[in-house]
Amino acid sequence: MNTKIKMIDEKNLDRDIIIEAANVIKEGGLVAFPTETVYGLGGNALNPSAVKKIFEAKGRPQDNPVIAHIADFKEINALVKEIPEVAKKLMEKFWPGPMTLILQKSEIVPDVTTAGLKCVGIRMPSNIIAREFIRACGVPIAAPSANISGRPSPTDVERCIEDMDGKIDYIIGGEMCDIGVESTVIDCTVQPVCILRPGGITLEMLKEVDKDAYIDPAIMKKPDKDFKPKAPGMKYKHYAPKAHVKIVAGDLQKTIAKINEIVQNYIGENKSVGIMATDETKKYYKNGIVVSLGSREDMISISKNLFETLRSFDDKGVDVIVSEAFEEIGVGVAIMNRLQKSAGFDITTV
Ligand code: TXA
Ligand code: MG
Repeated sequence: MNTKIKMIDEKNLDRDIIIEAANVIKEGGLVAFPTETVYGLGGNALNPSAVKKIFEAKGRPQDNPVIAHIADFKEINALVKEIPEVAKKLMEKFWPGPMTLILQKSEIVPDVTTAGLKCVGIRMPSNIIAREFIRACGVPIAAPSANISGRPSPTDVERCIEDMDGKIDYIIGGEMCDIGVESTVIDCTVQPVCILRPGGITLEMLKEVDKDAYIDPAIMKKPDKDFKPKAPGMKYKHYAPKAHVKIVAGDLQKTIAKINEIVQNYIGENKSVGIMATDETKKYYKNGIVVSLGSREDMISISKNLFETLRSFDDKGVDVIVSEAFEEIGVGVAIMNRLQKSAGFDITTV
């Protein structure tokens, strides 16, 4: 398939590109587009054959539902049976933004979109390109992250092209995604509400609306064979670069010493090693390829750079990536969730 790739300027939206891409959706085709979290791979959420094509392009397991994206509040009404009070409050406070609400689905949402579940995930992104594109489509847009299943999600257009060129009809390219990890998925069919996947809308923020909100305890630990998370996507090996990832957690001084020791051992075995460091620590690493994710004072810069850094180490052909850990508060919960999954829960505590 010949994939059309068009770059668009967020500050000066080219309507012709938006309309051309929306026409692809109207004809049942697939369009990748930027959002504030990661790039999405979009198709008409109400058209089963378009949604099937999304699963094929990604190589995604059939039992993993996709999120329906909307551009305006009123569009949610047709997609769900009812909107509980708490969900209304969350929508008002955090939409448009990096938050997906799980609600009872209405009849018009096809089973393939929800992978046979009775609930549907709905999100209204804040990225202006995403919003205008979805609005022009005139239908809800089913969009998982625009990566080949299992790989880290693309946070810039080059990564999106790497995974999707030749597999889909159209790619809209914008700037690098601001948040860099996928949206917070919140189950609103239960009370108190429960975070099924941590993201940019943090537990602390959610508690302002539902003080008893909590994170599904299953998702931060290594899954056992009976593990059945409510968000089916959370059980798959995910966010994984080709290199093996190891995490070192604990006191920062001890972490640095441990990472230096691990790196030395790998180098002794003739392996090449990448280190995911921070602005505060990078100068303490003497060997290996050192990349800073950003400052520990600015956790959003860490989340923004996480997937891109994992993928850039694959380009450099490293055998092993060793990463510092982050405190599990705020967006740090989402960062550690993705990092631990990419490492297959290989974490050493010092
Ligand atoms: O930020 C995001 O959410 C991005 C951008 C493109 O919007 N999308 C995204 O989609 O990350 P995806 O498909 O890669 O991840 C969706 C997650 C999966 O873990 C899936 O299992 C869960 O949301 N999910 C979707 N619909 C669900 C439902 N009805 N019930 C439970 N979990 C659901
Ligand atoms: Mg994904």
